[in-house]
Amino acid sequence: MNGNLGDKRHGRGFLNIFYRVCLTRPQNGLILYRANRVHYIRRAHGKCRIRSRGGRLTRLTQYWRVRDKAWAFVREFGITRFLQELDYRFVNDYHDRRLGIETNGMVRLADIGIDREDSVEYTPIGYSAIHHALKYIPISAADVSFLDFGSGKGRVIAVAATHPFRKVLGVEISAHLNRIAKTNIDRLRHRRAKHVEVIQSDAADFVVPDDINVVFLFNPFFGKTLKKVVDNILASYTARPRPVYIIFFNKIHFERLIKDAGYGRIRPIHHMYFYPSYSCGIYEIGNEPGIAGTGP
Ligand SMILES: C[S@@+](CC[C@H](N)C(=O)[O-])C[C@H]1O[C@@H](n2cnc3c(N)ncnc32)[C@H](O)[C@@H]1O
Repeated sequence: MNGNLGDKRHGRGFLNIFYRVCLTRPQNGLILYRANRVHYIRRAHGKCRIRSRGGRLTRLTQYWRVRDKAWAFVREFGITRFLQELDYRFVNDYHDRRLGIETNGMVRLADIGIDREDSVEYTPIGYSAIHHALKYIPISAADVSFLDFGSGKGRVIAVAATHPFRKVLGVEISAHLNRIAKTNIDRLRHRRAKHVEVIQSDAADFVVPDDINVVFLFNPFFGKTLKKVVDNILASYTARPRPVYIIFFNKIHFERLIKDAGYGRIRPIHHMYFYPSYSCGIYEIGNEPGIAGTGP
């Protein structure tokens, strides 16, 4: 049994709880037996704020579950990685709360009716990575027109909107995720950008406005879609030449494309790595062909 120990169907007396804990989880029974059961249960009561004999033990089982998961993680990946993971989760939760939005959790595209072979599911990027990457854009904030391709629930858009950018746009294929992003933008605290908008569209069909000068992609798609999107960015640059910066997380797909398609105008200007496994490249589009080739 792994249900709620405070379930009303079961009795709630001290012995009842004690035996159910022992029977349901043999390893706990052993600990209880060895470590003076009254003391242990009192400690558990304190830790889990279980008020009286009749109180629920739900929190206690939650505590055990979390502890078991944490221990399994430490055994598999080691203590350093565990502390990194803890920090990563804490920082992401903290910023979601600070901004008053909800962007956590992974969403499989197949579960929301999207069947695209070169699209990547929704997973939000870590807040630290966004903050760091934005520092490398050599344009003053008031001149930035920002576009996030594959904006999902709007985490990147929300962070961009806390800067005094001229304009912040998101493009997302899923209507479901885009609705969540809109709600998040409506609730957003610390907003400084005036124009913030999330548009539901396939990125490949989206015509890049000719004032956009920072394009952000957190590994949203690859293959033909990525190529079409890069062609659209270059077309926007050709229509109105201006400094344009591309921030690309996980850069391996992007660099392969630049090389294979010979996009010589796209030059890498910086790269960095973030926990858990993000590689980030920052690129500039310029008139002169760069190291990648001499193509468009
Ligand atoms: C890895 S998530 C990135 C989410 C968001 N940018 C962030 O960092 O928090 C990739 C997102 O790209 C979206 N996506 C995938 N293919 C797309 C396409 N062809 N056009 C627009 N969005 C797409 C997915 O629905 C998903 O929300």
